[in-house]
Order: sequence, then structure tokens, then C-alpha cells
Amino acid sequence: MTDKQFDEAAKEILSSPEMKKSKKFVQHGKVSVYSHSLAVAKYSVRFAGKMGIKVDYRSLVRGALLHDFFLYDWHDDWDKLHGFKHPRIALENAKKRFKLNKKEREIIRKHMWPMTFINIPLCREAWLVCIIDKYCSMLETLKISKYNDL
Ligand SMILES: [Fe+2]
Ligand SMILES: [Fe+2]
Repeated sequence: MTDKQFDEAAKEILSSPEMKKSKKFVQHGKVSVYSHSLAVAKYSVRFAGKMGIKVDYRSLVRGALLHDFFLYDWHDDWDKLHGFKHPRIALENAKKRFKLNKKEREIIRKHMWPMTFINIPLCREAWLVCIIDKYCSMLETLKISKYNDL
């Protein structure tokens, strides 16, 4: 997928007011939910390309960008169940705002597996985001993420 194709697939979501607002919500360390979601989308695309995994790139980008579309700062009201609950909340919000296909819904709903143990990812795109999300979260928590080049 070229950068131009990525931008084309991401445009509707990245330009939404809700997504812009997520620049103010902290995900891990100093990284916002917006930067985290963008990083997960870009790294997922790169990984699929490098490994030669056949995916629906448009759905991969859109699902990855929306996987944490829960729209609150989870540090404000500390909720130890945030990890379990937010995929469902993100999906509800995303469904209200965008027209999503099956793969995009699957990516959002299943990205916290194995924490949400019965929600096993059922397509390649959802598996990719599930894994890359954990990789990016680790980089952010250890404060070694370099997202400036994205
Ligand atoms: Fe998440
Ligand atoms: Fe995430």
C-alpha cells in the first residue's frame, strides 16, 4: 500500500472531529490516542506488506484507526475494567459515526484478545491489529516509541 493509498483510506476517519479530539486523550506515557491509533494503522500496513500477508488494506487501515475510538481519557476516571470494556465502547461509537464493514467491526471488537478471551479474532486483519496494538503499547509504555517519522 502506498502512502497515497493510506491517506485516501484514512481520510474520512482522521478528519473527523472525534478523531481530532483524541489528540488530547493520553494512551500510554505521553502518546495520545490519536498518535497511538495512527501508529497501529501504519505499522500494521507495513508488517502485512513486509510479510507478504494478503489483506484488505483499506479495512485494515480503517479498523486500526478506530480500534480505540472509545472517546474518553481512561486516566481521568480510573476504571480497572477499561481494558475489557473499551473494545465494545469503541465499536458502538464507531458504528454511530461511520459505515463499517465486517472486517472493520471485527478489528475493533477483537483487538484486546486474549484479555477478552471469548472474542478471538476471526480474520487476518483483526489478528494483525491485535498483535501490532500490543507491540505499539509496549513501545509507548517503555517510552521508546518513535512516531515522529510516521
Ligand atoms: Fe485498545
Ligand atoms: Fe490500542
